[in-house]
Amino acid sequence: MKRMLSGVKPTGRLTLGNYIGAISQFVAFQDEYDLYIFIANMHAITVPQDSKELRRNTRDLIALYLACGLDPQKVTLFVQSYLPQHTELGWILTCHSYMGELQRMTQYKDKTAKGETGITAGLFTYPSLMAADILMYDADYVPVGMDQKQHVELARNLAERFNHRHGETFVVPEPIVPTVGAKIMSLQNPTKKMSKSDDNPKGTIDLLDEPAVARKKIMSAVTDSLGVIHYDVENQPGISNLLTILSRLSGEAIEDIVKRYEGKGYGDFKKEVGQAVFDFLTQLQNKYQQIIAAGQIDEIIAAGNAKAGRIADKKVAKVKRKLGLNILK
Ligand code: TYM
Repeated sequence: MKRMLSGVKPTGRLTLGNYIGAISQFVAFQDEYDLYIFIANMHAITVPQDSKELRRNTRDLIALYLACGLDPQKVTLFVQSYLPQHTELGWILTCHSYMGELQRMTQYKDKTAKGETGITAGLFTYPSLMAADILMYDADYVPVGMDQKQHVELARNLAERFNHRHGETFVVPEPIVPTVGAKIMSLQNPTKKMSKSDDNPKGTIDLLDEPAVARKKIMSAVTDSLGVIHYDVENQPGISNLLTILSRLSGEAIEDIVKRYEGKGYGDFKKEVGQAVFDFLTQLQNKYQQIIAAGQIDEIIAAGNAKAGRIADKKVAKVKRKLGLNILK
């Protein structure tokens, strides 16, 4: 069975973008792959976090993973901060990363281009830690949304570079990006990615939003004045985004939805998308409540941490041997 790994950062609440771009893929792949899914909480602290909120968001994220359909019998679920091997290998890979390649990473580039101050060294080097997360487990595939593809490509480069310098050590991973929904856009600014850290809550649907509130957000989503329902990202980014959301939640192909709406207006279309989001969130949140009530999160994570830890120990030991870092006979 091929191995697959991915993770989500518990900064803020999870969005519909995270679900469509990443988590729904994890669920779809869990029967076919040896799947490792983790909470990237060491990545979360690259920007300042409130400790109470971080703890709450982390537990919510685990419960949401389960509510979205990840089955702990099939998937190894773990929390990064419990595995110090990640930061250890992260450091080693930082020492194999060039300043130039980290400077080219979009998140860092965007923040510096905007003139943001207070950018931490951790934010600059985090793609090397992400490479460690992936290479630690010899993942063949890494399912991610479009914005993370560049980081998986860095992980590939680092794996190849390390193998070349020190001999075969890491599997070279491949990113898997969904064909529909790899980049869900903000509802208020459909040329910008829907993001957990958006200042405008109307642009983002949180998986824990009241379903009625989420429906309102869809109804007030920014569209255009063309008045036709077409998938045209360039000229109709808002409508195209809503088509993508509806298609991914209902399973109906975008072309079929477009055909059904020939000659019809935006009002009816938005109502249908709003209802699909409402139904999806209602169902998801019911499951989320059941999972919280069942109180099994600690047990699931302890088992996942232990299993991941065994693999991580072996890999770090091997890497240290290759580098001449273990000297005791
Ligand atoms: P994060 O937490 O920003 O996002 C988690 C996943 O959700 C996807 N995503 C989206 N997909 C479609 N539309 C959107 N609007 C949208 N917003 C987010 C992301 O592409 C991602 O797949 N660095 C990573 C976490 C990480 C990781 C890893 C992932 C750390 N180590 C190792 C894979 C493998 C991050 O910040 O994702």
